[in-house]
Order: sequence, then structure tokens, then C-alpha cells
Amino acid sequence: MNKPIIVVNFKAYGESTGKNSLNIAKTAEKVSNETGIEIAVAPSFVDLVKIKESVSIPVYAQHVDNILPGSHTGSITLENLKDWNIDGIIINHSEKQLKVSDIDELIKRSRGMGMKSIACTNNVSVTRAVASLGPDYVAIEPPELIGGDISVSVARPEVISDSVKVVKEVNINVTVLCGAGVKNKNDVKKAYQLGSSGILVASGVVKSKDIKSSLMDLASGFKGD
Ligand code: G3P
Repeated sequence: MNKPIIVVNFKAYGESTGKNSLNIAKTAEKVSNETGIEIAVAPSFVDLVKIKESVSIPVYAQHVDNILPGSHTGSITLENLKDWNIDGIIINHSEKQLKVSDIDELIKRSRGMGMKSIACTNNVSVTRAVASLGPDYVAIEPPELIGGDISVSVARPEVISDSVKVVKEVNINVTVLCGAGVKNKNDVKKAYQLGSSGILVASGVVKSKDIKSSLMDLASGFKGD
């Protein structure tokens, strides 16, 4: 099993953009230091550089376009993320899907630039296909459970265990994460027992009234008790 990780996707919630993003990122840094569990944050593009300059935990972009620097209005390049030492990218999220050829190139290009890649998948066959492209992480998230109150590890445990199985078959170096509906310690514990090395979480943290308690609770799911 790989080192546990919690990745907090801030998405575009009002609760996690602007000044709120800084508060969540600093709280995540504190919880990571206190628990020893790696916590990475993925703020909106507008907040990305500010966050990167304010915390020492890994900072990921929520998406990137597979283009080279040049005449592209409203686009984000890997090179521009690298300019500001952004640690990694989330790609192919269900809310921002990409073509397979773009996923493939982005994984290779980001690795060449020393950045980590988390490639999202929506079912086990897509997990198999994407894992064969060799990202650092695949994150399996059944779309129908995203933003809801029932965790993937409770509602669709087989999606996690089957993803772990196919990833082992195609590329042992890829680490499996899971997400959708993850809210508490028990959800994390189940995911971990099913073979997921970590979680990708959004609403359970960013919409919480007490961000620190929520993160502490999630982090405790990786402990053996
Ligand atoms: O990227 C994480 C995500 O899609 C899961 O969202 O709100 O169900 O934790 P949520």
C-alpha cells in the first residue's frame, strides 16, 4: 500500500474561492503537519499562485489544457503552471473531461516537467485504460455520487476493489485514489481497506462548517483503529 494521501478539490464553490481558499489551504497544511497524513489542495486557477506561495503542502491545478504556449485565449498551459512551481495536475475530472490522446500527452509532458498527475476515471474500464497511460495516480469517482452524501466506498465498494485489481494488472506503479461523497472517517477507512491509497474529496471538506475537524476526521480514517 502506498503512503495515504487526501486531495482536496476546491472546485468553484463560493466556500472555497477567494479568501476562503487561503483559509482552507492553511487549515489543510496544519492538519497535515499534525497528523503526518499528506494533504494536497487543488484551488481554482485564480487562487492557485496565491495558495502555492502561502503553504508548504502540495498544490495541484484542477485541470490543464493540452496545448503549447501561444495564441490560445482563455487557456491554461502546463508551462504556465510550472512557472509558479505548481506541484501537479488533476486531469479528466468528470466535470472537465478530456480526450484519451490529451490525457496521454498531459501525463507524459507533466512528468517531463517534474509535476505529478492525478487522472480521474468514472468506471472500472476507464480506470484500466487510463492506468495503462501511467499517471502517478488514478482517481475513480462514480459521477452519480459526486457531491452527494453517500460515499463511493459505501455505495459502490466493488468499483474501488475492481479498480485496484485492474491497476495492479496494467501498471503496478500507478496509485489508486477514490472519491465521490466521501464525508467521514468511516468512508475513508472503508476505501483504504478496499485498497485505495487515498481520497479525492470536495464538498465534505469545503462545505463543512468546521474545516479542521472534517480534515482531522478524514485523516483518522487511515489509522488502524
Ligand atoms: O474531485 C472530487 C470530487 O469530484 C468529489 O466531490 O463533493 O463528492 O467530495 P465530492
